[in-house]
Amino acid sequence: MNNQLIARRNFLSSSASALAGSALLPSFAKSAHRKGKLLYHTTEISNAEPVLSELVRNWMTPTDAFYIRSHAPIPKINHDSFRLKVEGLVEKPLSLTLKQLGDLPQSKIVATLTCAGNRRSEHIAIKPVKGVPWKEGAIGNAEWSGAKLSDVLRMAGVKAEAKHVWFEGLDQIQRSNGVIPFGASIPLKKAMFDSEKMPGTILATGMNGEPLNGDHGSPLRTVVPGYIGARSVKWLGKIVVSDRPSPNHYVATAYKIVEDGTPLEWSEQGPIYRMPLNSAICSQVKRSKSLIVAGYALPQGRPGTSIRKVEVSPDNGRKWIEARITSPSREFCWVLWTAAIPSRNAGDELMVRATDSRGSIQPEQVNWNSKGYLFNSWHKVKTI
Ligand code: MTE
Repeated sequence: MNNQLIARRNFLSSSASALAGSALLPSFAKSAHRKGKLLYHTTEISNAEPVLSELVRNWMTPTDAFYIRSHAPIPKINHDSFRLKVEGLVEKPLSLTLKQLGDLPQSKIVATLTCAGNRRSEHIAIKPVKGVPWKEGAIGNAEWSGAKLSDVLRMAGVKAEAKHVWFEGLDQIQRSNGVIPFGASIPLKKAMFDSEKMPGTILATGMNGEPLNGDHGSPLRTVVPGYIGARSVKWLGKIVVSDRPSPNHYVATAYKIVEDGTPLEWSEQGPIYRMPLNSAICSQVKRSKSLIVAGYALPQGRPGTSIRKVEVSPDNGRKWIEARITSPSREFCWVLWTAAIPSRNAGDELMVRATDSRGSIQPEQVNWNSKGYLFNSWHKVKTI
């Protein structure tokens, strides 16, 4: 099969059958079931995304409508005895209480998190892929508060040979070769890349003005603006400064773009860091003479890059109607948009594409990959 594939369909049923046989994967609901504003793909380990009409109601996603992506149950963490360990290539290893972290200068940032597997259901519709069959809802935009990672690293004193910063969660993930924590790593340059408004990485204790809840990483998580969600480690317990990327499975093996899945290809590919330019149509409302369409668009995770333009086509790409952006448009954040399509122009299918401030346009097609990551071709839905 040619792997240059176009996303043709949306509103796909969850492909539970494609996932059968993965003994260590949590069992996937035949179709996601709804609890509150979220659709749960799995419940014993929470993996949930909001129903799409809820997703684009607010630029700041309320916590109860924010997707949850976990590889293990929420770990039990005693906040009084909790210590964040900082080790590796540092002059002074640290063991910090939540109070000590809270005494550091606090930042408040708005940043979008999105799972690398967002829109995986469109990959699955083409050819089976293991993993949570996310639709377009594995994304959310929130206010995060906490200390800057750069301040903690400066306290520890980073040695000259350091190049990467590893994060380790306190969760316990069952894999065939044993139990491991979730891990991530980011280049040291990103960790220290603070601009006036945006720290390179935040050690978040708060989300949307409340302490983090269990699903989103209480008491402490990293939030790495512009990077795929997998680099924002929940239930953070340890930071290691190193001269190389983390050997943790979720850096060394998972979260890479691999087509054939040969051992050679796995070892050749580097970890995914930045989130890609993306957009989706999330709601349609019929008016007497028009169809009101709404959705989100996300800039690539490159510093200083925001969404410039969102266009909707009612006729398979012949005509493009510019959407109105109804929210702030900033680096590392999605925008919400709406477009009125005259009824006389509306064909069977609608599609959307976004352009960012660097002039990059979302691709019309994307290559299928064996883990179902970074699906970001023009998003298509059937017209209501
Ligand atoms: N951190 C830990 N410790 N364990 C996890 O399973 N999942 C990661 C990341 N951090 C994960 C984690 C993934 S893949 C994503 S997309 C984001 O958390 C999701 O964050 P959220 O559940 O707060 O939306």
